[in-house]
Amino acid sequence: MENKSPFSSMPMAMIWCFIACLAIATTCCSADSKSSFEDNFSIMWSENHFKTSEDGQIWYLSLDNDTGCGFQTKQKYRFGWFSMKLKLVGGDSAGVVTAYYMCTEDGAGPTRDELDFEFLGNRTGEPYLIQTNVYKNGTGNREMRHKLWFDPTLDYHTYSILWNSHQIIFFVDRVPVRVYKNADYENNFFPNQKPMYLFSSIWNADDWATRGGLEKTDWKKAPFVSSYKDFTVDGCQWKDPYPECVSTTTKHWWDQYEAWHLTKDQKLDFAWVQRNLVIYDYCKDTERFPTLPEECSLSPWD
Ligand SMILES: *[C@@H]1O[C@H](CO)[C@@H](O)[C@H](O)[C@H]1NC(C)=O
Ligand SMILES: *[C@@H]1O[C@H](CO)[C@@H](O)[C@H](O)[C@H]1NC(C)=O
Ligand SMILES: *[C@@H]1O[C@H](CO)[C@@H](O)[C@H](O)[C@H]1NC(C)=O
Ligand SMILES: *[C@@H]1O[C@H](CO)[C@@H](O)[C@H](O)[C@H]1NC(C)=O
Repeated sequence: MENKSPFSSMPMAMIWCFIACLAIATTCCSADSKSSFEDNFSIMWSENHFKTSEDGQIWYLSLDNDTGCGFQTKQKYRFGWFSMKLKLVGGDSAGVVTAYYMCTEDGAGPTRDELDFEFLGNRTGEPYLIQTNVYKNGTGNREMRHKLWFDPTLDYHTYSILWNSHQIIFFVDRVPVRVYKNADYENNFFPNQKPMYLFSSIWNADDWATRGGLEKTDWKKAPFVSSYKDFTVDGCQWKDPYPECVSTTTKHWWDQYEAWHLTKDQKLDFAWVQRNLVIYDYCKDTERFPTLPEECSLSPWD
């Protein structure tokens, strides 16, 4: 990315953050940040590949030639804002995938809904890509890939999902990188019926992840470690059979007009992302989809 003036190549949300977050840096973050891991999460597999910092606020997942590791929320949610800071495996991370996602179940069930962020590692000095995907009733194949405008291995950055009945937005440091819209008719592509857990995991995917599987994981560089902090949820926590907060009363922020569309500043940022960072968009892949999936005709600008 060109770097002429300090702000010229920066999206609006970053500028806003420079101005506003500096001023409120000590108060702007997760309200929940003092809760401990066990309050809200459990380990899915390989307890011995999970560690926390001494104060319990930073979590480390590691991958070696034996196994990876994953954790998940104890609660399910339906709609809201879901956010976490991640610092990804640095150095030679080819073949290693760190996933951060929401899913209706804790397996790869045939009728699951899922919203994915996957961070695809790379050889030292080569850029990470993020891949996002949306599953409805077990069907995905809705991949997008983006470059980032920073090195995600040097520091923590915030990765967030906004989810309501009208749209799903994937954010990186508050910049909307992907907008997935619902239609105003019943359809089979927009997941909004079932509550989801939030998950993260690290695993070996050297059969596909880096340069399509050409770059293999170098196990001599193991363990590969991704770090997490500041889990934040501002949304509707699920309670059986049906919590009050999912009903469409416009009482909650995610059920109000402002959360259903990109704001003016978000549109500027999103346009910047579209111009500069998109590597792959399934909605443009007419070789793979001679007839494009129906959701591809919905405009993210509406
Ligand atoms: C985290 O766990 C606490 C204690 O069980 C609970 O009160 C709180 O609602 C949970 N937070 C989230 C975001 O689920
Ligand atoms: C895994 O790595 C360890 C440490 O580098 C090594 O001793 C062991 O032989 C490796 N195991 C396999 C199955 O490759
Ligand atoms: C979800 O998928 C299953 C098969 O995988 C199918 O039997 C079912 O009808 C689908 N449900 C809906 C609501 O489309
Ligand atoms: C890894 O680096 C290569 C070379 O720069 C690049 O072509 C590729 O898109 C990068 N990312 C992945 C996931 O392959």
